[in-house]
Amino acid sequence: MNRLSNKVAIVTGASSGIGRVTAKLFAAEGAKVVVGARRQAELESLVAEIKAAGGDAVAVAGDVRSEDYHKALVAAAVQNYGKLDIAFNNAGTLGEAGPSTGVSEAGFSDALAINLTASFLAAKHQIAEMVKHGGGSVVFTSTFVGYSFAFPGVAAYAASKSGLIGLTQALAAEYGPQNVRVNAILPGAVDTDMYREMNDTSDKQAFITNLHALKRVAAPEELARSVLYLASDDASFVTGTATLVDGGASITRT
Ligand SMILES: NC(=O)c1ccc[n+]([C@@H]2O[C@H](COP(=O)([O-])OP(=O)(O)OC[C@H]3O[C@@H](n4cnc5c(N)ncnc54)[C@H](OP(=O)(O)O)[C@@H]3O)[C@@H](O)[C@H]2O)c1
Repeated sequence: MNRLSNKVAIVTGASSGIGRVTAKLFAAEGAKVVVGARRQAELESLVAEIKAAGGDAVAVAGDVRSEDYHKALVAAAVQNYGKLDIAFNNAGTLGEAGPSTGVSEAGFSDALAINLTASFLAAKHQIAEMVKHGGGSVVFTSTFVGYSFAFPGVAAYAASKSGLIGLTQALAAEYGPQNVRVNAILPGAVDTDMYREMNDTSDKQAFITNLHALKRVAAPEELARSVLYLASDDASFVTGTATLVDGGASITRT
């Protein structure tokens, strides 16, 4: 408890899955949280849950493809809570999947826009605010796909998410002197809407489960605890990393 006392955080992709659970954990650990995604009703219910549990949060709905939306999220943090210490840039999409020879330019570009360009735009405005108050911690949600594992049919997803690792390293090097830490978390399979949409048969779920040394997929809470570590001062000397939280998928060959 209270690992994020007096901290102010932004969490994107907070309407469901990993982001929603992480926003609740941040609030339970004492952070004031600005939650973002497109689905306003889901954000409002999340804010109500956080407040009912004694925490503090505010919802700002929008689309991460818009630079103005990132300005609005940072403005909400400053106007409501006075500063910004932590950002979990987690909104993401699988994008257009299927054989790569059939993927459209628009589909590929949209995955880049949501998964990679939006993360850059978010960090651009978040870091500018963080440095005013002595630094902060930025965490991006990447994935093991395109880093330690390759699947057919997800080129746009793999390319956009692995780009986040270069972005993480570049920003960590650039803003480390101003005490901004930047890390990427690389989940294995996590039981969320995105996972269920991608793995819609028991055969696909069995295949994915078996890729992990632990022979199961993660609960979103297991990712949230790792994000909390990277966001908090427990990780005060951790920056520029690609942190695998993948149940051993990267070291499994059976
Ligand atoms: N589940 C897995 O196995 C897994 C594994 C590795 C990495 N990841 C990554 O984990 C992150 C969270 O995904 P999840 O598994 O928790 O799935 P999820 O429940 O589908 O969450 C995706 C989140 O992203 C938001 N989002 C998507 N497009 C957006 C846009 N254009 N603007 C604003 N928000 C947008 C969605 O909110 P709205 O629809 O309300 O906008 C939602 O809150 C993603 O980046 C994903 O790539 C997931």
